Amino acid sequence: MKILIIGATGNAGSNAIKALKAKGVKPTAAVRDIEKAKAQLGEGVDYAYFDYLDKSTYDAALEGVNKLFFIAPPPKKDPAIARELMQAVQKAGVDFVLFQSGGTSGTYKGKPLYEIEQDLKNSDANVCIIRPAWYMQNFHTWLGTTLEDDEICLPTGKAKVAYFDLKDLGIAIAEILTTDGHVGKIYSLTGSKAIDFDEVAAAIGKASSRNVQYRDMTNEGYVNKMVEKGWSAEAAKYCIWLYDRVKAGSEEEVTDDYKTIVGSEPTSFAEFAMREFGKKQAITVS
Ligand SMILES: NC(=O)c1ccc[n+]([C@@H]2O[C@H](COP(=O)([O-])OP(=O)(O)OC[C@H]3O[C@@H](n4cnc5c(N)ncnc54)[C@H](OP(=O)(O)O)[C@@H]3O)[C@@H](O)[C@H]2O)c1
Repeated sequence: MKILIIGATGNAGSNAIKALKAKGVKPTAAVRDIEKAKAQLGEGVDYAYFDYLDKSTYDAALEGVNKLFFIAPPPKKDPAIARELMQAVQKAGVDFVLFQSGGTSGTYKGKPLYEIEQDLKNSDANVCIIRPAWYMQNFHTWLGTTLEDDEICLPTGKAKVAYFDLKDLGIAIAEILTTDGHVGKIYSLTGSKAIDFDEVAAAIGKASSRNVQYRDMTNEGYVNKMVEKGWSAEAAKYCIWLYDRVKAGSEEEVTDDYKTIVGSEPTSFAEFAMREFGKKQAITVS
């Protein structure tokens, strides 16, 4: 059984590789820099050269593949590139395709993830779609830009999000790729509770023994703050659409899809915060 992972060095892919290895499966990582990927992903993985932006790499990477996991083509998630990939996938006779979409963009007409989902639903391939909720780990990156000041500054009001742990995402992907019964399914992978940003600040504050506060911002105030933090105004403005959607409830739904697939409860935000922010505090103190 040959399982190919596109985006293998990224958030979803690297956690899927880890979970597949833990199950005793040797996945193949489809990557544009094999040496860099080997340094990150290590032993127990095969490697294939693949560059989304160079379709002459598709056929060789897909040769002999039974099951494929892929994310939308970076950096712009261009549906036309995803369509070219799917043509090569069908030509190669891949038995099963798992696509990572998203809850906010995958359900919003006109957005690239929505378009790719439609193309997959209309294709003859055996497809499964996952829509993970916002990663908990986003607080290490874009959602956590102001955490260094013990603040979470976002224009998100009282929005609630059913954050999902990347570790659980890897486990769910590995399970779907190694078991049957997933063709035609769309799984919304969420945590077991939707929480607001005050609750996020409290959980991170408790884990790291700091007084972390959530500051609700205006859109303009947010853009100015991010520019102050070194972002481009364009990048900050891009996020405003996401925050508007999240305020409208796009990430609020809680499902039991993770439990259905894996058989256990997803990680809670408090557990995640203790694991990843508690450890950081311990390192800082010592
Ligand atoms: N952030 C969230 O909370 C969230 C939630 C749900 C869904 N999503 C969706 O998840 C998707 C992103 O997945 P992710 O977070 O796993 O991605 P990611 O961490 O940003 O990683 C991107 C991956 O794509 C690879 N890549 C970049 N350019 C490539 C190219 N030209 N050819 C081949 N590979 C290339 C990168 O490899 P290199 O090592 O070579 O750079 C990396 O492995 C997006 O569609 C996003 O909307 C995100």
